Amino acid sequence: MADMNPKPWSETTVVGKGIPRIDGRELVSGAARYSLDMDLPDMLYAATLRCPHAHARVVKVDLAKACEMPGVRAILSDADKEANVPWFRKMGPPGANPQPVSRLFDPHCRYAGDEVAVVAAETQEQAWDAVQAIEVQYEKLPFLTNVEDALKPDATAIHEGGNHPGQPNAYSRGDVAKGFAESDIVVEETYRTSCELHTPVETYGAAVRWDGDHLTVWESTQSPFSIQSGVASALKMPLSKVRVICRYMGGGFGSKQDTNKFTVIAALLARRTGRPVKYFLSREESFLCMGNRPAYSLKLKAGMKKDGTLLALELNAFGEVGAYPAGSNPVGGMLRELYTCPNVKTTEELIYINGGQIRAFRAPGYPQGAWALEQMMDTLAEKAGMDPVEFRLKNAATVCATDANKPFTSNGLPQCLTEGAKAFGWKEARARAKSDGPVVRGVGMAAALWSNVARPRSTVIVKYYLDGSVNLNMGAADLGTGMRTIMAQVVAEELGVPIARIEVENADTGTTQYSDGANGSKTTMIDSPAVRAAALDVKHKLLEAAAEQLKVPAAGLTLKNGEVAGPAGSPPTKVGQLALMQMQQVVVGVGVRAPHPSDKSIRPFAAHFAEVEVNKRTGEVRVLRMLAAQDSGRVMNRLTYESQVIGALTMGIGMALTEQRILDGNSGRMVNANWHDYKIATAMDVPAELTCLPIDPHDMEVNSTGTKGLGEPALVPAPAAIANAFYHATGVRPTAAPFTPATVINLLNQGKRQG
Ligand code: MOS
Repeated sequence: MADMNPKPWSETTVVGKGIPRIDGRELVSGAARYSLDMDLPDMLYAATLRCPHAHARVVKVDLAKACEMPGVRAILSDADKEANVPWFRKMGPPGANPQPVSRLFDPHCRYAGDEVAVVAAETQEQAWDAVQAIEVQYEKLPFLTNVEDALKPDATAIHEGGNHPGQPNAYSRGDVAKGFAESDIVVEETYRTSCELHTPVETYGAAVRWDGDHLTVWESTQSPFSIQSGVASALKMPLSKVRVICRYMGGGFGSKQDTNKFTVIAALLARRTGRPVKYFLSREESFLCMGNRPAYSLKLKAGMKKDGTLLALELNAFGEVGAYPAGSNPVGGMLRELYTCPNVKTTEELIYINGGQIRAFRAPGYPQGAWALEQMMDTLAEKAGMDPVEFRLKNAATVCATDANKPFTSNGLPQCLTEGAKAFGWKEARARAKSDGPVVRGVGMAAALWSNVARPRSTVIVKYYLDGSVNLNMGAADLGTGMRTIMAQVVAEELGVPIARIEVENADTGTTQYSDGANGSKTTMIDSPAVRAAALDVKHKLLEAAAEQLKVPAAGLTLKNGEVAGPAGSPPTKVGQLALMQMQQVVVGVGVRAPHPSDKSIRPFAAHFAEVEVNKRTGEVRVLRMLAAQDSGRVMNRLTYESQVIGALTMGIGMALTEQRILDGNSGRMVNANWHDYKIATAMDVPAELTCLPIDPHDMEVNSTGTKGLGEPALVPAPAAIANAFYHATGVRPTAAPFTPATVINLLNQGKRQG
């Protein structure tokens, strides 16, 4: 039996190369068919009536006029028995079966955006028109747009039992009171972040079709297998009768892994009408309803000795969960793990408000946690009279404090800090900062880690055809990272097949094997070893067959370009000529992902450096350049690696400077649900100099490809690095994100008054 979980390669010929995406041509030419492009013969199109009020009760829905509108084929509302599907469950302890808190068309509408009815019509325009003709009587209720109000004793209860969806997430080690008592320097500060919205280029939705009792779903999703199980459970169907496909997708960033109402509603409408149904949300609806990175207030207290030894960290954090319970958002993760600190206490709580609910968003919780912790580290370094890089090096964690103090499979944090500083020209840039005149300049940095704790689950099939071409069959979706290309490289590396002869078939629950969703920055680290194992299985079978046929030991044989080569001198044998191949026509290898090592912890690390310019007259902040030193283990493909890092830095600039959902205090409605008023960083805001510096500490322990995960850790420290650069330039700390020109003017004025 071949070793299916060997150590990572010491040298590679294909893996690591900056190979352009195998599907790049389809992606840029418009040939790629996204789920949003799925138009089937006979298709109906759906549109939603959403509650326009921040908090209201539906008293009466009159569909009579809407039913008479041209093209209308069905309207689904809470009046329909089959729409009585429970939705959103209370957060509970693991293993518990938490109670649902609402249903598909719950008459208790808890934010401006909740679904009241959905129309299916012959055209999208007819569906939108019919929505306008639905008459609803609402009873308006008092609403809450922020946590402070939601925590007041007389606040309106968004759910039965009040505005706490669950217990606070509490963690403690050591004794923080003792730690602060022993500290020479104690600093306390409250940091704030704003609610950020998901803006993937492809909006949200699904196209569905019934064939008898079998349902096919084309959905824009990171997690086809989660959608399969979510839809099967909502409609009480066996998994085998639900097929979910996502060939291409236009971004997800965490927001496309949950099962959505739209898929279940589309399936119900399709069943009723006997027609395929396409139900995609508009951009405005995507802003309102498809999740966000929650706003947080983070009260952080830190204590250290005079020499800069960190002694205690205490965090009290409140975030907005929105109108419904949702997954955790561990803002305390960085505090618990990034630095050696004997006394740590973190309390995190999410509170209901009348707004769209949170969803996973590129490193949930971590950029907010870094915003607080890494600005605090900057302050502490200054008080200790130390360089920020030196201060972090002194305190950098060497073991994983939340995981039984296990060592890391690899720890590139010190290298991220030192090599990043060197490549950025940190010392020189720090020294040449400019603090006089109306336009000032400064540099700052921040560090981070990301906590990959997911169980690795993936099965992969590799089929080797008699002509030496290969089909790679795997469940994972490529959410835009270039995953398909990376996996083809792994196959090419092991089987000696040119990339062009490899077909990657993925993200189809009907025809591919199980993989967890493309999330948590774990697709490459979880699936690439399974791909390698499947390729090794094929190689083993082919070489064994060749050895038997050629009567030589398998150990001396190699496989390349569809030929098995023997010891020097002997002529190569075409794989197609092997008796095994003649009999089977195809050789199939199966790879199953091995578990994580049990005695080590897996963490990717990062250190970011930023140089900014601040115009003190206009409040404008320009990021002049950034450098991201990332330890994500092996670089599988230099091009896709850089694309993750550049995208993440761009997102970091948005979080620091421009992005925020605005809920109007008078109406409770979101007033910037469009790309004009909700400002993500564009080419105009991003510096030409975004440098990606991979730090590869040659992790031989993590898995058989040496990879740790990149997409999320590449974002985490970026906003805080920009904030620290702003402080360096101005001497004023921007505790609240984003610091827009108006905020900057206020900050600078206050700073002057205080100073
Ligand atoms: Mo991610 S936010 O786990 O896709």
